[in-house]
Formats: sequence, structure tokens, C-alpha cells
Amino acid sequence: MQALDQLETPALLLDAAQMERNIARMRAHLQPLGVTFRPHVKTHKSIDVARRMMATTQGPITVSTLLEADYFSAHGVTDILYAVCIAPNKFDHVAALQARGVKLTLILDSLETARLLVDRARSHAQRFDLLIDTMLVISEKEARALVGIDDALQVVQDCFATMARNAARNYPVVREATGHRDAVFGVKAGCDDAAALLGLKAGGYWPQNMARGLGNHQSSTLLFDRDTGCASALVSANYLTGIRTGAASAVATRFLSRPDSRVLGLIGAGVQAIYQLDGTLAVRVIEKVVAWDPSADNLAPFGRAVTERGLEFIAAERQQVAQQADVLITVTPSTSALVEQGWVRPGTHINAMGADTRGKQELDPALVARAALFVDEVAQALQIGECQHAFGAGLITAESLRGSLGAVVAGLCEGRRSDTEITLFDGTGVALQDLAVADLALRLARQRGFGSTVAYQDAALR
Ligand SMILES: NC(=O)c1ccc[n+]([C@@H]2O[C@H](COP(=O)([O-])OP(=O)(O)OC[C@H]3O[C@@H](n4cnc5c(N)ncnc54)[C@H](O)[C@@H]3O)[C@@H](O)[C@H]2O)c1
Repeated sequence: MQALDQLETPALLLDAAQMERNIARMRAHLQPLGVTFRPHVKTHKSIDVARRMMATTQGPITVSTLLEADYFSAHGVTDILYAVCIAPNKFDHVAALQARGVKLTLILDSLETARLLVDRARSHAQRFDLLIDTMLVISEKEARALVGIDDALQVVQDCFATMARNAARNYPVVREATGHRDAVFGVKAGCDDAAALLGLKAGGYWPQNMARGLGNHQSSTLLFDRDTGCASALVSANYLTGIRTGAASAVATRFLSRPDSRVLGLIGAGVQAIYQLDGTLAVRVIEKVVAWDPSADNLAPFGRAVTERGLEFIAAERQQVAQQADVLITVTPSTSALVEQGWVRPGTHINAMGADTRGKQELDPALVARAALFVDEVAQALQIGECQHAFGAGLITAESLRGSLGAVVAGLCEGRRSDTEITLFDGTGVALQDLAVADLALRLARQRGFGSTVAYQDAALR
């Protein structure tokens, strides 16, 4: 109940009248529960709207940049909640505002920053009220707004290279059928020393969700401070899973496909397909997309998304897709081969993205055995990836793999050897990719004032 005291009204996008109605509704709801509701006014473009709202809320105005703090303090507002992380380089500005009589509550991103600020305050005989409040909650909508394919590509690429240098580890994966609503639940965790990341992604697949208007894939990432173990962010990971998978595939395409690749072939036009498309477009000049899916209902909107991007789209049979593609991506939950060995032309690059569980399969094992093989994680590829079938049939061994994609990125392993070689990336999805994009969302959220700060483990320093 106490946490409700901290509630901030989401006034950012609302007009004053709507805000007042919301506050009245919230008060009426909370008062009978014995909760004191003290809404804050969030950033507003105009001082008039802000004044009206402050009169209603009787609370401070919440700003997310020092520029806004300046604006409101110049208009005589003295109760300001600076609800973003204060970096050490902002200390002087903060001190100047305080000298003007502005009451500041600072929310800090780390204990280290708090210590620096306290030292600074002591040396200037100043007093700050500090709230150490390290937990940021980033919603699905915010994650979508914050993370684009280009940024995701860069962090996923770096993450692969770090894995190859043994400076990051994925921990054993948990994946269980819950026995309820046919759901599969899993936890993927890892630690990246180079990027100072520790965390987990938990979630899975709830096949009956679609009928309730929800996506079947649901997951969330929890990030921890590697030094203290304190939780630093909870990030909705549905969109981020898609974009990190598109990014992983795009890194493989960037390093392994022929630079003159112009035709993208897709086997599968479900949720992941659009991320695969955008990832590929970020690294190659694609002119035509040829795709197959057993569901016409899925293929049609995917085709529209392709033409909206100014590309030619052709719906075709599996064999034609495989025969025409320079870059071929398979991304279905199939449990039997969809692409035969003889269909694929020399020089094609394949990203096998659908198989991420024991039993899933999209390619003829003979095709896998014939290709130059690259994986995201060796053990996962051989056990749950596309390689599991060729490996199980004795067509390949661990030594048959040319290397990890990270080793290619880090320059530790040779990639494509000729324009006629068929290269194959077996992407099973690893925790470190999830942590990398969640951390990207966290850093961008802090920069841009996104996310909701939760008083999760506060310690007031005076
Ligand atoms: N490698 C990774 O990192 C990673 C990440 C996310 C998802 N995935 C996997 O990718 C696959 C696709 O995910 P999605 O989110 O797009 O799923 P989705 O359910 O949204 O779409 C799957 C598509 O495949 C088609 N399909 C279904 N069964 C098929 C079958 N037996 N043969 C051929 N096509 C079939 C469907 O019509 C649908 O269009 C899943 O297996 C998922 O687990 C892998």
C-alpha cells in the first residue's frame, strides 16, 4: 500500500481537465483504502497548464531535464522533483538551482553517483535530499519507442564478439511445460563482464493467448547491478526479443552473406518475420522478397509490410523461395524439414532461426552437413538448434562447425571462403542478446527520461 503514496499521474500526454478527472477518480478509489494519494505533476509544455495542475495535485512538478527545471524555476516554481538520474557532470547545475531556493529531490542511478554528490554537497556545505532509487520499469510501449534495429544490431554484434573472447557467459537454460494452458515457461540468464551486465529473461509461449487478444510470446527481462546484486531494471521483452533475433540474424547476414545479395527468401511469415526483414534491410541492399508460409492470413500482411518498404514481394512455394534467395531465412516452429538440400543455390547464405527447442527442424540435415556452419552457441546449436538433427544422425560433429558467429565478428575465425560456398548460421537465441538489448533500452530510457522509477530499495542519505 505504501507504494501508492509514490504514485505519479501519467499527465504527460493528457490535458489539464482530463488530468483533474483522473486525479479525482484515483483519490475516490484510494481514500477508502486509507492510502494517501499525492500525485505529482509531470513535465508540461506550458507554465499555465503546470500551475493549474499543481493547484489540483498540491504536489511538486516532476521534470526530466535540467532545461525544464530551469524553465519552471524561472517562472517561480520552487517545488521540483527532478525524476531522472543525476550524472556527476550535472552537479554544478543542481547546486545553482538549489541556491535559487528550488527544492530538489534527486533520483540517482547508482550508489557511486550518490557518494559523489554527497561529497560535493559536503564540500559546499549544501544539503540535498537524496533518494537512491535504482529500479526503472520500462513498458512494452516504451521499449518499442526506445530501441531501433540499428542500435540493437550494434549491441548484439558486440555481445557476440564478447562471448567469443570468453568475457561473457550464458548460464544453463531452464525450459519447462507448466502443465497449465499448454504454456512453456523458460528462464535464460547470463553475465557479461565487458558490458557489466547481469540478468535474466523469463517468459515463454502461451498458445491460447491470441484468442484473448494477447501475443502468444510473453517475456520480461530483469537486470541487476553486477556489483551489488540490486535489481536495476525490469524491461518488457516481447518487442525486444523480436528485435534482438532480427539483429542476431542481421549480424550473420552482414558477416557471412555475399555483399551483392539482392533477394531475401523467407520461410515463415509470423511475428518474427518482420524483424528478420528489417534486420536484413539494415545490412544489405535488398530489392525483392520471396516468401512462403502455410497461413495465407499471415503471408498477406507480411507482403504488405514488404511493399510498404518499397520492395517487390512475391508469395511462392518453398522450393521457389529457396531457389531464388541470396539470403534465406527460416523462422517457423516446424518439426520437419521444409527446405531440401538440392533447392539451395551455391553462394546462398541461410539463417536458420526457427529451431530453438529439441524437436524443431526446418532444414534437410544433408543441407546442414553440406554448409559452412556457424552458430551463436555451440552446445545450444547441437542440442536444441537446427544442427541437432544432422548431429544426432552422425552427419556432423562439434568439429564440423567452422566457428561461432562471435568468433567471426571478433576476427578469430574465417567467415565465408568463396562466392559459391553455402554458409549457414544456426541461431538458437542466447540470454546475453536479451540482456544487451534490455540494457540498451535502460540506457536510452535514462537519457530520454522514459520509464517509471520505483522506490524498490531506497536508502535516504542526508
Ligand atoms: N532463434 C531465436 O532466437 C528465436 C527467437 C524468437 C523466436 N524463435 C522461434 O521462431 C519460430 C517462429 O516464431 P514466431 O514468433 O514468428 O511464431 P509465430 O507463431 O508468430 O509464427 C510462426 C509462423 O510459422 C507458420 N507455421 C506454423 N507451423 C508451421 C509448420 N509446422 N511449418 C511451417 N510453418 C509453420 C505459421 O503459419 C506462422 O506464420 C518459433 O519456433 C520460435 O520459437 C526463435
